[in-house]
Amino acid sequence: MYFYKLREDFLNFFKERGHTIVPSSSLIPDDPSVLLTTAGMQQFKRYYTGELNPFSDFGSARTASIQKCFRTSDIEEVGDNTHLTFFEMLGNFSFGPVGEDDPKNFGKEGYFKRAAIGWGFELVTQVLKIDPAKIFVTVFGGDKEIPFDEESFKIWSQEIGLPKERIKLGSREDNFWGPTGSEGPCGPTTEIYVASDENQALQGKGVEVWNIVFNEFYKNKSGEYKKLENPGIDTGAGYERLLTVLEKVESVFETSAFLPLVEVIKKMAPSLSLKELRVLADHIRGAIFLIADGVEPSNKEAGYVLRRLLRRIIAIKVKNDIHEDIFQLGYEEVKKLFGDIYPEVKDKEKIINVWQTEFFKFETAISRGIKELTKYQTISGKDAFYLYETFGLPFELIKELAPPQAVKNLSFQDFEEEFKKHQEISRAGVQKKFGGHGLILDTGELKAETQEDLKKVLALHTATHLLQWALRKVLGDQIRQMGSDINPERLRFDFNFGRKLTEEELKKIEDLVNEQIKKDLPVYFKEMPKKEAEKIALSFFKEKYPDIVKVYFIGSEKSGGVISAEFCGGPHVNSTKEIGSFKIIKEESVGKGVRRIRATVEF
Ligand code: ALA
Repeated sequence: MYFYKLREDFLNFFKERGHTIVPSSSLIPDDPSVLLTTAGMQQFKRYYTGELNPFSDFGSARTASIQKCFRTSDIEEVGDNTHLTFFEMLGNFSFGPVGEDDPKNFGKEGYFKRAAIGWGFELVTQVLKIDPAKIFVTVFGGDKEIPFDEESFKIWSQEIGLPKERIKLGSREDNFWGPTGSEGPCGPTTEIYVASDENQALQGKGVEVWNIVFNEFYKNKSGEYKKLENPGIDTGAGYERLLTVLEKVESVFETSAFLPLVEVIKKMAPSLSLKELRVLADHIRGAIFLIADGVEPSNKEAGYVLRRLLRRIIAIKVKNDIHEDIFQLGYEEVKKLFGDIYPEVKDKEKIINVWQTEFFKFETAISRGIKELTKYQTISGKDAFYLYETFGLPFELIKELAPPQAVKNLSFQDFEEEFKKHQEISRAGVQKKFGGHGLILDTGELKAETQEDLKKVLALHTATHLLQWALRKVLGDQIRQMGSDINPERLRFDFNFGRKLTEEELKKIEDLVNEQIKKDLPVYFKEMPKKEAEKIALSFFKEKYPDIVKVYFIGSEKSGGVISAEFCGGPHVNSTKEIGSFKIIKEESVGKGVRRIRATVEF
């Protein structure tokens, strides 16, 4: 098993050659032009441009890393032998100016094509012992804008001694890389491939294991290429792909990076299709790493990527009737393998909580959605968006689970167009409704103009649910909401009760609420059919509810039980501690049999 050995071999090799080993950066980049970290060079962008000095930060112009990466562009490909969403990338990097460019130069100054190619070949053939006869390479063949990379061609043929038949010329599409995001360093590449035998190598058929980018340009936001003052080196080697070659297996899922996880899934769900098995393995691993780096499920950006992974796991689980422990058991394997390399993966409570919350929220809706899918003859982009909004079915699931005839013509673009249209409509709606008063939230019950206010009203909103719970505890279960209104200063809650409350009762209610706040109980919602919700949650009689409703819960099995469940559109804080402390300021009558409490919160 090469899982740990490959890491060591790679890092030692470049350390000996003057490189400073830099830990992987987070999957959430500090570069606003990208959603997630997709390549090893990303954390080094500003060293290529000269904005930052590698000597002051690393004591060398050379660095090497094993970087956590996530590529959403490959989600649909997952299931074949090589594609993954989350993967690791080996990389050695050089930031100019270039010193003596020679693989024998073990110093700390910048290098370029000769050293980068020489080391790539040496590591692959001598350290990793891949048979040189099975190797072929590609170099950039040139186009109108950028010339043929003759220098690399010569290095491969004259210095390395690779036969010319095994040096292939590639196009812009295959041999030009970058940038990550909307701008950044980029340039022509040379790639090392491993074939299954010499004959295949001559034909140019094999797996790419090593990609060296010669960062000579900077592509700016308007798409222009500017020559960088000092060229740099950016190497990327897909860790799992390299393992596939070293461990002589067919796919990344059979390597030591995946096998324990795949085995656990197989055992729990022996009848899964190969594709579903691989998607589960990839998505469980990917979700764990996203959550570990602080991503939370949401409807935008990285949160939406995570949500897609989690919902697909839920759907495969529902469709194949797999036990819900699948995520947790999978997690244990991922932790065993990666916990010491990436300590953030050890935060079991956080990771499992995110999974459980999402699972709890969407399982019912997704099961209903899967049934709903069978009713369609054809599914348009609009239908797909409806299914997403109503049942939480992500696009890939609709594609996968609907009758093939029905989704024959459904494209992601159609779906996205609907998605965007919807976002525009809701934005326009908000603006119109508030006539430019700058309100960022107005649900009728909650109003906030600034982020500061928003925090306050969310806290007051959850406090309102706790207040209703405490009132029922102290005064009895006949207590019902008669009205509620919240602004950043206070909450106001009306309820049915026939007399003035005593000082002791008020004190008791206030204390009960504060106790629950201190317990830091989770606050979350679940979407469910109205009929089901009515059995478990309090509703507000004045409201007309749709067929699928949101129910907000406070507390969970794990925190000692659910204490509150109410029909509610939200939003709320995520956990009760965010409320700070709770204080009743006034209790009064507002008509026969109706009392009103005003209360505040303090952070
Ligand atoms: N940055 C290059 C890649 O991701 C090496 O392939």
